[in-house]
Amino acid sequence: MNIEELLTPINSFLQCETPQAWIDEAIKDTNLPVLLTDHLICELKAAQTAMWLIRKYAVDKQSGAVLLEWLQPYEKFIYRKEGDLETLAQKLKFSKSIVPKSNSPIGQDLIDKMVLLIKEELHHFYQVLEIMNARNIPYENITAGRYAKGMMTNVRTHEPAILVDKLICGAYIEARSCERFAKVAPYLDDELNKFYVSLLRSEARHFQDYLALAELIAGEDISDRIQFFGKVEAQLISTPDEDFKFHSGIPA
Ligand SMILES: [Fe+2]
Ligand SMILES: [Fe+2]
Repeated sequence: MNIEELLTPINSFLQCETPQAWIDEAIKDTNLPVLLTDHLICELKAAQTAMWLIRKYAVDKQSGAVLLEWLQPYEKFIYRKEGDLETLAQKLKFSKSIVPKSNSPIGQDLIDKMVLLIKEELHHFYQVLEIMNARNIPYENITAGRYAKGMMTNVRTHEPAILVDKLICGAYIEARSCERFAKVAPYLDDELNKFYVSLLRSEARHFQDYLALAELIAGEDISDRIQFFGKVEAQLISTPDEDFKFHSGIPA
């Protein structure tokens, strides 16, 4: 599939395009460290979110413990600055099978999708760190932008609505990431350009996995909620934002 074909569903799902002002900011050399660092953290968060979802709602206890172990070296790196590329590389080989809880509404098929998603996000994490290392960009703690929080504050407070809403937010975060990879890639150097396009290929499916899961769990039409979060998301992207990040609004 070519890039245009991959982007068509993503662009029709999102309610606004990334503003040119954000792109102009993102391609400044001086912003590369924050762009990559924020991206690195986003990859971990994506893996953590998927992990939390399947541990809470889908897998048995033993599989849950196995899954948590996968994340630990990455979390140690981000939160405690422990480990390096080499220690993470050894942890990239996951093999154990993950089995559903007997009473889970989520079947093996969706668990498999989420497990694949987690593996992909952790692999992306590794790739971003590799690029940062090669460019002598040290990993520094940075604060989270307003984007994810801005959506999550609108999550309803009862089950299964909580889960459905969080999945919809997840879908928007994934879709926006893809859209932005595509937007900045042409302006970046060869290595980053190729990397972002490769990410786009692997991420393009993720938003649909989240939506499929949301629909399955809701058991009813969720197009109103999708529209609602689409509006919230588009607002965060198209209003002034002083804190430049991968998912920030119009640089103010
Ligand atoms: Fe990713
Ligand atoms: Fe993703």
